[in-house]
Amino acid sequence: MNIVIIVGSLRKDSYNMQLAKTMQERYSAKMNIDIADIRSLPHYEQDEENNPPETVKKFKQSIANADGVIIITPEYNWSIPGVLKNAIDWASRVDKVFIGKPVMAAGVSIGMAGTLRAQLHLREILSGLQAQLLPPSGNEILINFAAQKFDDQSGRLADEPTLGFLDVVVDKFVDFVKLSKKD
Ligand SMILES: Cc1cc2nc3c(=O)[nH]c(=O)nc-3n(C[C@H](O)[C@H](O)[C@H](O)COP(=O)(O)O)c2cc1C
Repeated sequence: MNIVIIVGSLRKDSYNMQLAKTMQERYSAKMNIDIADIRSLPHYEQDEENNPPETVKKFKQSIANADGVIIITPEYNWSIPGVLKNAIDWASRVDKVFIGKPVMAAGVSIGMAGTLRAQLHLREILSGLQAQLLPPSGNEILINFAAQKFDDQSGRLADEPTLGFLDVVVDKFVDFVKLSKKD
């Protein structure tokens, strides 16, 4: 199973990127995970959408080729970061690569809210794009108080109860992706 993770933070020591790397390593037997490069995407520009730069073509192709997408986002000002929205805007146009695509959401914050408000916005946006979202009930990866849950040395997610919950949701996502292929 080929999965692409899109991370909504460009920060060097991003907790959200660390979650993506944790998942890439931890679930390597279940899925092949690529982490998309959104740093090199230019600002979305409608005049360019029919013949976009190579980085955009590559990004869209990686989503088109994937069996499923995991979006891991911080919360910026009660929403998703602009860099993530920019990437989604590119993906939403012309060949519309999110239509019918199985998507799982996750996020990490340093405060208490665990990216809940950002993920609500993300779900609204992806519904508009006709992505197939893993239903939220029992599947919300809202990781709060990140500084206490990530290992200082390795950087990876280390909180056992959180990792256990993540394992359960990832297994459900794997089933969800398999079911969607049968449609
Ligand atoms: C521009 C900006 C806006 C933020 N807004 C929120 C917010 O609305 N809610 C929240 O819980 N944290 C907010 N934060 C704090 C982030 O949760 C924190 O910076 C987190 O570490 C970002 O994720 P990262 O580690 O993956 O870069 C904000 C941070 C920045 C830089």
